[in-house]
Amino acid sequence: MSKPEKLIVDGKRLDGRGPFDLRPIKFQAGVLKRADGSCYLEFGGNKVMAAVYGPREVHPRHLQQASNAIVRYRYNMASFSVEERKRPGPDRRSIEISKVSREALESVILKELYPRSAIDIFVEILQADAGTRVAGINAASVALADAGIPMKCLVSACAVGKADDTLVLDLNKDEDNYGQADLPIAMNQFGEITLCQMDGHMTSDEFSTALNMAIEGCKKLHELQKQALVEKYARGVAPIAVEV
Ligand code: CDP
Repeated sequence: MSKPEKLIVDGKRLDGRGPFDLRPIKFQAGVLKRADGSCYLEFGGNKVMAAVYGPREVHPRHLQQASNAIVRYRYNMASFSVEERKRPGPDRRSIEISKVSREALESVILKELYPRSAIDIFVEILQADAGTRVAGINAASVALADAGIPMKCLVSACAVGKADDTLVLDLNKDEDNYGQADLPIAMNQFGEITLCQMDGHMTSDEFSTALNMAIEGCKKLHELQKQALVEKYARGVAPIAVEV
């Protein structure tokens, strides 16, 4: 993919969005029959499946914690999810994303209710289009709720960045590759930030504005997450034929 000359033309981004717009988003809760909870998410061109198992017995047993459940999170990018085939299996990037995503969700899970057990979260990126870590966290949060795991609230996540000196919500692939900054944020319902990473450079004023933009984005995502859960439990959905 070659570098576009400009990322913002007449105040519009190359995909036609304004700086404050999210890409189209579609959540579907409870799509996997064999998982305790699941969620399929399309977020722009990202296609993500999250599956949750537990609380269940911990293997290996020495990982058990006497007063808490342990939470494990595996982020995995399918080899066919990106333009250039990704080598299957964990790498430094996926290990880092798994760690920060687990931390983004762990603080809202009432782990003390399930000592000596494990809550396992699997996130599979089926198609990647920038912002896969935040997409994974959004889907995992719905999957946890779908599994009936007691939580203080949901966690929502989105990225803000800078392209052609303009702050833009929810980076697309070109903005992610060729922009000046990328700031993925996760937030719980009480406005507490549970993930904050940054690539590139922003001034402190830009950072404050970007953070507010991300917070507004997270609030919109939160509404969509709630809707997906209400839809499943109010009307019921038939599982689709996808298995992780
Ligand atoms: O996906 P996210 O923005 O959370 O993480 P990133 O490391 O900033 O990756 C940005 C994007 O680069 C991903 O969403 C993919 O579209 C792409 N990518 C890729 O094409 N091949 C990889 N091995 C890793 C990422």
